[in-house]
Amino acid sequence: MQIRDGIHWVGVLDRDLRVFDVIMKAENGTSYNSYLVQGKEKTALIESVKRPFFSEHAERISSLMELPALDYVVLNHTEPDHSSSLPLLLEKAPKARVVTSKPAESFVKNILNMDIDIMTMGEGDTIDLGGKELRFIPAPFLHWPDTMFTYVPQDRVLFPCDFLGCHFSDDRLFDDLAEDFSHAFQYYFNHIMRPFKKNVLEGIDKIKDLPIEVFAPSHGPILRTNPWQYVEKYGTWSRQPTKDPDRKRLLVFYVGPYGNTGLLAQAIARGAQEEGISVGLFDLLGTDFGDALDQIEAADGIAMGSATINGDAIKLAWDLLSSLGTIRVKGKLGAAFGSFGWSGEAPKLLAERMKNLGFKLPQEPLRVRLVPSEGDLAQSRQFGKDLARAMKAQ
Ligand code: FEO
Repeated sequence: MQIRDGIHWVGVLDRDLRVFDVIMKAENGTSYNSYLVQGKEKTALIESVKRPFFSEHAERISSLMELPALDYVVLNHTEPDHSSSLPLLLEKAPKARVVTSKPAESFVKNILNMDIDIMTMGEGDTIDLGGKELRFIPAPFLHWPDTMFTYVPQDRVLFPCDFLGCHFSDDRLFDDLAEDFSHAFQYYFNHIMRPFKKNVLEGIDKIKDLPIEVFAPSHGPILRTNPWQYVEKYGTWSRQPTKDPDRKRLLVFYVGPYGNTGLLAQAIARGAQEEGISVGLFDLLGTDFGDALDQIEAADGIAMGSATINGDAIKLAWDLLSSLGTIRVKGKLGAAFGSFGWSGEAPKLLAERMKNLGFKLPQEPLRVRLVPSEGDLAQSRQFGKDLARAMKAQ
């Protein structure tokens, strides 16, 4: 599929993939996009593909050129979905030089366990292909430390690696021809780029003055229709939610079968409110996690409550905590609480997990046996007050 004169998509579609990297849904499969850039003198391949798809990839390249004549293989990022077939490729194209960012050099060697002579590129470095130039733009943590973008100024095409990509398989390839992939585009951002919002904004800053007309990412449709709309979406999603600088905000989440942990949550929330901070109270049964993540990102602390069932916290509490890996929580305050019948492990387990995630917990977990008494509720209220005070002191 031609993108510009001398620039072709030679990637592969993985239509049957349903889970990517063990944790990501891929309801529409994915594509491992690879592009052949043919100058008057030299030819470069941008990205390799996942190893099981190598034959198809090689066939597609061979429809445009003799593989042994390939001069460069540019890996914008070395995760195996883009690099695992490299050894097979180099067998067929032995004179091709592998081109990466500087941080990628060791990754290539450790991922492939082979000694390759790599050409590393830094900011503004270029390779002349004859009438077409590859210009390299380091874009660290989008989403690995090794990520870089490759730009062809003559054609105004940017190859931004996973940035602006999505898991979506459609053989019509271009955004204006493919089925609606907006859900996959946002899902990909949320799961891959969201932890690196600062880097996303830095990446946008690096390309914002380039007259790019086509973004050709490493997964999903090629973006050529009003292509900057996609960059704007990344910008919007990456700007931090507005925080009130004058008022701290605590979110209290809870889950339990008989309402007892909910009573503790209400008392904690009330105590915190009495200290003049802003408080949000959420029953995890019915909480939208996407919205909760946005709110947690903008909050100064969270209190997490769960009843104990079979010696453990309830799954919804674990689900919320395990989804926090995609946002920055380091330095926020945390607290754990819960009602229990006889063993009461949940608050301690939640507290431990929160510490490991980077929360600071100024108090021991609050545990109350079965139905909270007036005294228990007063203690919970005090627990909320103390947490709010610690937040205000930060
Ligand atoms: Fe598509 Fe991060 O590899």
